[in-house]
Amino acid sequence: MAQVRLQKYLAEVGLCSRRKAEDLMRQGRVTVDGQVTEAPGHMIDPETATVALDGQVVGPPQKLAYYMFHKPSGFLTTLDDPRGRPTVKGFLDKLPVRVYPVGRLDLDVSGLLILTNDGQLAMRLMHPSYLVSKIYRAKVKGLPSEEKLDLLRTGQILILGKPAAPAKARMLKSGPDKGQLELTLTEGRHRQVKRMCAAIGHEVIRLKRIAYCDLPLPPDLPPGQTRKLSPSEIRHLKAQVGLVPADSDPKK
Ligand code: URA
Repeated sequence: MAQVRLQKYLAEVGLCSRRKAEDLMRQGRVTVDGQVTEAPGHMIDPETATVALDGQVVGPPQKLAYYMFHKPSGFLTTLDDPRGRPTVKGFLDKLPVRVYPVGRLDLDVSGLLILTNDGQLAMRLMHPSYLVSKIYRAKVKGLPSEEKLDLLRTGQILILGKPAAPAKARMLKSGPDKGQLELTLTEGRHRQVKRMCAAIGHEVIRLKRIAYCDLPLPPDLPPGQTRKLSPSEIRHLKAQVGLVPADSDPKK
């Protein structure tokens, strides 16, 4: 069988992205036939090499799988929490294939997460240069004025000292002391929506992601449920990050 770079193999078996694989290799955690292998260009023959991470043999490339998941709030987007808090692992374990969340939602945030073992797609969807859109519905304290929303729209908000990219922002509902906002972001920095809303003086009370890369969270997918992505949804995600030609995007 043709030789492949070790980091490509690790991504293809669904372990992680290529970049993460390189980190693991640099950390001396990956062995090939029992030898620690740190060189990023190392080639292996997947048919004959025994590749292990932290001493655990990594299996042959598995079938690529793509799901959407309605993450309920109250679960961490990780597979293991040293503090023993609930994680999404229990939901993922019910699936027939091993898949991983693309990006994260905070513990108290619900909504759409993509799950896959396609490391290359996951890496691109998470990379800021692809400007993948994410739509959030945020219930906030108080009623943000249009002037304040303009600060979000024009990128005049600093998050940890760096300007946040301009976001689409619109009021969906307003009550006497609360408002509901829809925010469309192309960045995915840590606690970004909460930080952006806090920066204009409106604390987020509840947050839900209602779309990812133009795929909406279906109304008939209840919290805690997963469903396979359709071939056209998979093609759309790949087209958005340049993995298939844009003219094969069924959404265009
Ligand atoms: N913004 C946040 O503040 N939290 C999330 O989980 C996602 C976006």
